[in-house]
Amino acid sequence: MAAAHLLFLSLLCTLCVYQSHAACAEVDSDTEAVAGKGFKLGCISCKMRSEVEGSATVDWYFRPKGEPDFIHIYNYDEGSPTIKDERFEDRVDWNGSKRSNDIQDASIYLFNVTFNDSGTYRCYFNRILTYPYYEYQTVVSKVIHLTVVAKATRGMASIVSEVMMYVSIIGLQLWLLIEMIYCYRKIAAAGEEALREAANAEYLAIASESKDNCAGVQVGE
Ligand SMILES: *[C@@H]1O[C@H](CO)[C@@H](O)[C@H](O)[C@H]1NC(C)=O
Ligand SMILES: *[C@@H]1O[C@H](CO)[C@@H](O)[C@H](O)[C@H]1NC(C)=O
Ligand SMILES: *[C@@H]1O[C@H](CO)[C@@H](O)[C@H](O)[C@H]1NC(C)=O
Repeated sequence: MAAAHLLFLSLLCTLCVYQSHAACAEVDSDTEAVAGKGFKLGCISCKMRSEVEGSATVDWYFRPKGEPDFIHIYNYDEGSPTIKDERFEDRVDWNGSKRSNDIQDASIYLFNVTFNDSGTYRCYFNRILTYPYYEYQTVVSKVIHLTVVAKATRGMASIVSEVMMYVSIIGLQLWLLIEMIYCYRKIAAAGEEALREAANAEYLAIASESKDNCAGVQVGE
């Protein structure tokens, strides 16, 4: 069972890696961080016209839980990050697109998450698309509601999918077992039939032989 689990996970990982290399996909961020651990705040905005040259700068804003206003916490511009709020000093790392100004992944990584990091995050892409004769500016923003918990709890969906996996594995094995018993019984029945036929044939042969013998004896007399 553990092996099947691992296989399933590695398959999923391969898929994810494949996806992140092959094409841009707007995967939603996780929304639950564990206190004391690191957390990746995901933010992806795919460029609709992938063939058009583009460049983007990124800003992150944060509104602590229970507070009314967003504060500017982070800026990323031409490969250089700036932390704008002291609460996040030395605690944020860029996890987004690297080696390119054409940023489609603006994810950041928070070290040592505290309960004070709960709240709403908003990332902004300020993107400029460069067409042959003009430039087009767009602003895309995404919102992430982050909850910080003491210990990781598992989402209902992941529990359900794991249960479904085990149910289907057990179901398959039961089906195989039933199939095996069915086949075994069928083969055994066929074998018995064959044995019976063979025995009958032998009996007949013996009977006819003895009849011949008897006839021979009679003829001899
Ligand atoms: C994000 O950044 C952290 C800290 O630099 C690093 O440990 C982690 O592997 C990065 N994750 C990704 C997906 O780039
Ligand atoms: C996170 O916290 C641990 C323990 O408090 C500390 O040793 C470590 O340097 C911190 N990491 C960062 C990136 O602040
Ligand atoms: C969380 O915020 C409270 C109130 O602003 C502050 O007193 C406390 O030191 C903060 N905790 C951490 C771990 O930053």
